[in-house]
Amino acid sequence: MSLLKIDGLEANYGPVTALRGISIEVPEGGIVTLLGANGAGKSTTLKCISGVVKPRGGTIEWKGDKILNRSPNWITRAGIAQVPEGRRIFKDLSVSENLMMGAYTRSDRGQIRSDEERVFELFPRLKERSKQLGGSLSGGEQQMLAIGRGLMARPTLLLLDEPSLGLAPLLVKDIFETLLKLNQEWGLALLVVEQNVTMALKVSQFGYVMQLGQVMVSGPSAELRNDAKVLESYMGVAQ
Ligand SMILES: Nc1ncnc2c1ncn2[C@@H]1O[C@H](COP(=O)(O)OP(=O)(O)O)[C@@H](O)[C@H]1O
Ligand SMILES: [Mg+2]
Repeated sequence: MSLLKIDGLEANYGPVTALRGISIEVPEGGIVTLLGANGAGKSTTLKCISGVVKPRGGTIEWKGDKILNRSPNWITRAGIAQVPEGRRIFKDLSVSENLMMGAYTRSDRGQIRSDEERVFELFPRLKERSKQLGGSLSGGEQQMLAIGRGLMARPTLLLLDEPSLGLAPLLVKDIFETLLKLNQEWGLALLVVEQNVTMALKVSQFGYVMQLGQVMVSGPSAELRNDAKVLESYMGVAQ
């Protein structure tokens, strides 16, 4: 059974149609990537899953239950956390306070502390800077903080929206290594929206290529990787 199963999802912003019936699955413990040019509907897909955008049609099943009309809080508590596009950290809060914001749906204080320690083990840089304001961190550190904040919700599935965007090549490599670690060592399933096609298809098992609110191509990442034409025609990415 799929952990997450999206079927025929449709969404619009007023008169703008963003999703035209897309179907996507994430298996338990899998890494799935969502690719496509700007405006394809990738962020909208993640926002529908996390409950921030209300779809017009279709279904979203989480562990076999329909969750389409659930609130963002309910969805977070059910085990789905989102690392939003552009990090969206709280610049005037400390690193620690930012992490605590990720645990806002939880009340188990003791475990929250030990989860913070676990995030600090994953990102020692955040521990060193735990008292610093979020806004004083570098771009790479802010991305670590955004991921760490997502982890503080204790998710089973982490949604990541362009986690490597705007980072220097070495940091991009770090982020993808972190994703592999979260999958292999923490046991998390990941749904990753990416611009870095090569890296995304390297770490994922399955990929979907979107264009104008539709899934145009999907398949095992190893196969998509070998099909440069697919990437060129649907993404406008020169490989
Ligand atoms: N808040 C919004 N209001 C109006 N239109 C939006 C909004 N967010 C996204 N859109 C439109 O929805 C479509 C899909 O956008 P988005 O999901 O952000 O794509 P992607 O993440 O693939 O770049 C685009 O046409 C975009 O202009
Ligand atoms: Mg986007």
